[in-house]
Amino acid sequence: MKPINICLVGQKFMGRTHSNAFLKVGKFFDCPRDPVMHTICGRNLAELREFQSRWGWKHATTDWRAAVTDAQIHLVDIGTPNHLHKEMAIAALEAGKHVACEKPLAGTLADARDMLVAARRAKQSKTFVWYNYRRCPAVALAHQLARAGRLGRIYHVRAHYLQDWGGPDVPLLWRFQKKYAGSGAHGDLNAHIIDMARFITGDEITEVVGSIAETFIKERAIVDEGPRGGIAGGTRGAKRKGKGDVDDAVLFLARFKQGAIATFEATRLATGNQNKNGIEINGDKGSIRFNFEDMNYLDYYDATAERKVQGWTRIMATHAPDHPYAGNWWPDAHILGYEHGFINQTADMLNIIAGKKPVVPMPDFEDAYKTQQVLEAAIVSAEDRRAVKTAEME
Ligand SMILES: NC(=O)c1ccc[n+]([C@@H]2O[C@H](COP(=O)([O-])OP(=O)(O)OC[C@H]3O[C@@H](n4cnc5c(N)ncnc54)[C@H](O)[C@@H]3O)[C@@H](O)[C@H]2O)c1
Repeated sequence: MKPINICLVGQKFMGRTHSNAFLKVGKFFDCPRDPVMHTICGRNLAELREFQSRWGWKHATTDWRAAVTDAQIHLVDIGTPNHLHKEMAIAALEAGKHVACEKPLAGTLADARDMLVAARRAKQSKTFVWYNYRRCPAVALAHQLARAGRLGRIYHVRAHYLQDWGGPDVPLLWRFQKKYAGSGAHGDLNAHIIDMARFITGDEITEVVGSIAETFIKERAIVDEGPRGGIAGGTRGAKRKGKGDVDDAVLFLARFKQGAIATFEATRLATGNQNKNGIEINGDKGSIRFNFEDMNYLDYYDATAERKVQGWTRIMATHAPDHPYAGNWWPDAHILGYEHGFINQTADMLNIIAGKKPVVPMPDFEDAYKTQQVLEAAIVSAEDRRAVKTAEME
């Protein structure tokens, strides 16, 4: 089997999920290409060496530019903070690599546009964006039901992504600084639910009707990142403070092209909700609802059934081979987790590179740019206090 030599940049939170996916995918899927964990790249060589030996990467380096343009590399995978996505992706595309990039596509629309232009130019390269929730079997099933017309005409999309880790004790990570992240809960969490809403409905958001953004915690302690980066807790010993200049929460209302109206809510301060990534969609033939904290289930309401037996059906989306991806995993109801979405996505990326069809549509730079336009429209709407068409966000 032809190998795909991978260079992964970033070895903390997403570095672990992606490494795990590359390690496992060939054990559970019949892949058309052999993913080879060639080079892991980050900033701290001592940490990288430990990571390399734990996960089985062949090489480790702190020189990302040399790594992503190395002639031996076929696929560059970007798991770094948002401000670095553009430079890394464009360098890799210009060197003829396939590129997988973490979401959001970029911190800003301008960066995302440059990446899109580079992707359009690199005709031999495939691009992928890690909107991994598409590949939770229950979400993929929701997409299939909607595509099969089981929801009928869609009236409402109600999406929320609620977390509560972003309180005042959390230090000034890159995630709270505009120059690195672009935005806060918005690009981090709304990005996922915008993608999920577009994916399930198959429709596009044409207008953000109104948006509200709030930064509740304006100063945070400056400390070193924890060894796993990202959501490192604690500010003990911190003497200096810095300005957190991104939103903690963004809520917005939107319209879809085919007429549905929608609400989106993202926050890092929804006390009691750790990772409540949820969506409900109501159509004239049926509804679906999903909550990632109970990710193996999809709730489905069939409004075409006889009225006296209508009710929500709780579907455990793990029946092989009827449910998407389920056949590659365990017997029915033996439960999948967060990491399986990344492994499922990796299987589909390898299929696409080999010219095969993914199980459900894959977001590439073209697709992720549309999500980025909606993100931008919501930012402009909050700043200008007006309705904003996504088409204005070119
Ligand atoms: N798909 C998802 O569900 C999901 C979840 C979390 C984060 N993300 C996205 O993944 C990306 C990374 O987030 P994270 O949580 O893994 O962050 P993190 O802080 O845990 O890790 C960032 C990594 O980038 C590396 N890095 C930073 N600057 C670098 C440089 N100049 N050269 C080389 N490496 C560099 C760091 O060393 C670290 O290994 C972000 O775009 C984020 O939005 C996606």
